[in-house]
Amino acid sequence: MRVIQSLQAMQRQALKWRAERRTIGFVPTMGYLHEGHLSLVRRARRAVGPNGVVVVSIYVNPTQFGPQEDLARYPRDLPRDLQLCRGAGVDVVFTPSDEAMYPGRATGDYSTYVVEEQLSRGMEGASRPTHFRGVTTVVAKLFLLVQPHVAVFGEKDYQQAAIIRRMTRDLNFPLRIVVAPTCREADGLAMSSRNKYLTPEQRQQAVCLYRALCHAREIVRQAPHPVDAHQLRIKLRQEIEARPEARVDYIEFFDPDTLRPQARVMPGHRMALAVWVGTTRLIDNAAL
Ligand code: PAJ
Repeated sequence: MRVIQSLQAMQRQALKWRAERRTIGFVPTMGYLHEGHLSLVRRARRAVGPNGVVVVSIYVNPTQFGPQEDLARYPRDLPRDLQLCRGAGVDVVFTPSDEAMYPGRATGDYSTYVVEEQLSRGMEGASRPTHFRGVTTVVAKLFLLVQPHVAVFGEKDYQQAAIIRRMTRDLNFPLRIVVAPTCREADGLAMSSRNKYLTPEQRQQAVCLYRALCHAREIVRQAPHPVDAHQLRIKLRQEIEARPEARVDYIEFFDPDTLRPQARVMPGHRMALAVWVGTTRLIDNAAL
């Protein structure tokens, strides 16, 4: 396994593979890898076949964090991440630096961004106004550097995956986006690098996101008619906030393709939610 830091070296390697007709699979991450990330690596491996190569990027992208967010304390452990990548049969780990990715940003003269203007508005975009601009910008840059034929994203970040799909279509990136299912802990909590922030008590309470998704699905599937979103939201919020450290940021019911909010919820719609557990903000989503 090779670790590449330099942008030019990464792009040169990618172009060389392409000249050799090798299929490139790509998994972008912010590191502190867990089983969810590794499941994407395996999915990428399956997509590229035996003669293909898999690249994982590890980069905590500063432009997707708001000024009050957890950029500085975001968990990092590169040696451990590299070990996990080696074990998963990754060919190249790409670890660019901030200076290389955003030249001049420290002095205010980095000025080019990629903005998706529809799907980015609600949910995470409403709570975190510059978040998706940072995501689309870094992912577009990574696509140009890694030149993948296939890129794999997790359903855990459903809105992010939808936005990346849209960007890929709208900007004609010549690659296929694959979205892989959410990996969960035994009690249902979606795996996340941010789970590491939770105290043992908070960790127990954090199962409330998954429980809310399951309960909503049960209600929507058993109801003879579409369910009123407002009523359902109130009920779920009460259940979540019965846990001492859990506070709902949003609960949304939406069309899985357009991400448009739905006032009357039916099977086939999707639910997403963001909940603060102590000072940690967790998200999850599922089909209803
Ligand atoms: P990060 O949170 O590290 O996640 C990297 C990828 O892993 C994303 O596609 C995410 O959806 C997926 N993932 C996270 N938890 C998962 C789980 N429990 N099951 C399955 N997949 C999971 O998402 C980002 O980084 C960044 O925004 C990034 C796309 C790298 C751009 O900076």
